[in-house]
Amino acid sequence: MPTPDQAIGMIEKLDIAVFQVKTESTLSDRKSFLRVQNVTRSVLGHYVYLEVGSHLGGSLFPHLIDPACEAAISVDPRPPAQPDERSQVFHYPENSAARMIAGLSDWLPPAAMAKLTTIDSDVSDLRPDAVDFKATLALIDGEHTNRACFSDFVGVLPLMNPDCIISFHDANLIADAIVNAERFLDHLGITYETVFLPDTVAVVGLGSVASAVRDQLQPHALDRETYLERSQRQLWSHITEVHSPKIHAEIGRLRSDNSKLIEEIECIRKASLDAQTHLAAIISSTTWRTSAPIRTVVDRIKRRLAP
Ligand SMILES: C[S@@+](CC[C@H](N)C(=O)[O-])C[C@H]1O[C@@H](n2cnc3c(N)ncnc32)[C@H](O)[C@@H]1O
Repeated sequence: MPTPDQAIGMIEKLDIAVFQVKTESTLSDRKSFLRVQNVTRSVLGHYVYLEVGSHLGGSLFPHLIDPACEAAISVDPRPPAQPDERSQVFHYPENSAARMIAGLSDWLPPAAMAKLTTIDSDVSDLRPDAVDFKATLALIDGEHTNRACFSDFVGVLPLMNPDCIISFHDANLIADAIVNAERFLDHLGITYETVFLPDTVAVVGLGSVASAVRDQLQPHALDRETYLERSQRQLWSHITEVHSPKIHAEIGRLRSDNSKLIEEIECIRKASLDAQTHLAAIISSTTWRTSAPIRTVVDRIKRRLAP
């Protein structure tokens, strides 16, 4: 395990080896997480970290080991499975704060672990006084649906210092939530700057931190419009792929129903032709023609007897 000084060196050099506990993020995401941590350290000196969605604690680790991080709060209701904007359900077996704490404790000294508070709840259910200190850096990485991420953003806001950074992981999946969050900040009259870092980290600097996010992170950022457009295209293409076996099965079933209906129509058409031929034969038969006067008499009697 690195010493605090070594950890600071690794964080400052963007050395992703500092991530010692398993995290569900790409190597570029980890580098981006470190960039965000460095901006926070450089602007605010010390900071309080709030994380929504922690699983095994991989993304918490660099903050717990960082002496500049005074406290870290993990908010995670620990569901066994969760929906996702990719139209799939993701399972998290044995998902618990106790398991995360045990895993982190294998790598971190008691002093670092003492900074950690875990809350098994949805962040929207927390009261603003649920945390002792207002947070200055947040990561939203819980349920990856637009609805949940926007709700997390709204739930996180009252727990934050007005001058803060709120970041989102898997921004490519929940881009609509981010754009809605920006619109909400406009509505509240809050100054902000957003950047999209590789691969999938969106960073929103609020209040006096907005300009630092723009100045320090924009040079490493992806082009916003290209990122949003590509994310949506990739998401739709993924959803199509996920549903394609079901769609193909449905097309197969409709084709087979269609062939059966065509066969039934053909049978009915043949039966109708047979009946027409049979009727024509009856009408043209000698018996039919010779019995015509009798049918006429019968018809007249029927008409007279009719009420
Ligand atoms: C992708 S994992 C988080 C990974 C972690 N940040 C990392 O990089 O190591 C998603 C986590 O979100 C949590 N989660 C699901 N629904 C949530 C919610 N409504 N609020 C907060 N966390 C939630 C799950 O329990 C799971 O631990």
